[in-house]
Amino acid sequence: MTFLECNDLIKLYIEEQSKIQVPALRGIELSAHEGDLVAIIGPSGSGKSTLINLIAGIDKPSSGEIILGDDIVTKLTTRQLTQYRRHRIGLLYQLPERNLVWNLSAMKNVMLPMKLAGKLSHSEQKKRAKQLLMDVGLDRREKHKPYQLSGGEAQRTGIAVALANDPDIVLADEPTGELDSVTTFKIIHYFKTLNENLGKTFLVVTHDDRFANMTNKALRILDGRMVGLHRAVDSKISLSHREEVVYVDDHGNLRIPDDIRKQAGIQNHVQIEIRDGFATIIPVRGDIKDE
Ligand SMILES: Nc1ncnc2c1ncn2[C@@H]1O[C@H](COP(=O)(O)OP(=O)(O)OP(=O)(O)O)[C@@H](O)[C@H]1O
Ligand SMILES: [Mg+2]
Repeated sequence: MTFLECNDLIKLYIEEQSKIQVPALRGIELSAHEGDLVAIIGPSGSGKSTLINLIAGIDKPSSGEIILGDDIVTKLTTRQLTQYRRHRIGLLYQLPERNLVWNLSAMKNVMLPMKLAGKLSHSEQKKRAKQLLMDVGLDRREKHKPYQLSGGEAQRTGIAVALANDPDIVLADEPTGELDSVTTFKIIHYFKTLNENLGKTFLVVTHDDRFANMTNKALRILDGRMVGLHRAVDSKISLSHREEVVYVDDHGNLRIPDDIRKQAGIQNHVQIEIRDGFATIIPVRGDIKDE
């Protein structure tokens, strides 16, 4: 059953100085199931953070609808939204200083959201924080403060903080933007493990293409629109065999993502072979001369 649904989401910002409307989202359609690990991949300015802020109930769309479980998020009152953010959403940002309180230990950071929610006793909070830090491989870093942790460790602590109140969904905005390759893969590994072990729904927005093959659903966003769906061929990382759904505009223009063009050696021309109702795109190498 669909768990998260965005229907025709539009978000216009008004530029402060010029008063010009900036369309950040231009009709987003999105759906995810409970327990999905979804990546939304797009370049800078494509609307990723805007989308996260809307789903998190931090900001409101200009029009359109967001549904999470049995809540129509776009119809919640300000008061209901506060509860929604606190209990149903776990957030993870790119910069550790946005996720963690700098002078608190890793343990106290994970306990903090539980303390604010006021549902568990102190000893229950401690027990849960210990378990969550263990889940992200940081059981030996409980007493460390954020500045005593590596970038990857700080981000893993951030994941534990996001999970503290057992949210329905964890929303991550560019969670590996500051990290090197090895650390990025480790973070992706923890997203996958937590997703599989806890059945938790994760939505990650990123410019990092490496998320495409590591999630069970990867979508592409460009200029405030969903332009493609990347389908994992199997659960293993498969670079040589992949399928991708791409956007075709009203004029027949295709948008082929950069990494696919690079991988397939597509330059300025492709040959389209049509057979038995299938159209195969074949890269044409070298220049095409005018006849
Ligand atoms: N508060 C704002 N006021 C005006 N325009 C904004 C505002 N916030 C975002 N925008 C514009 O909306 C568009 C989408 O921005 P958004 O921050 O969602 O992109 P993004 O994909 O998260 O980019 P990045 O990868 O750089 O974080 C951009 O054109 C941006 O300039
Ligand atoms: Mg952003």
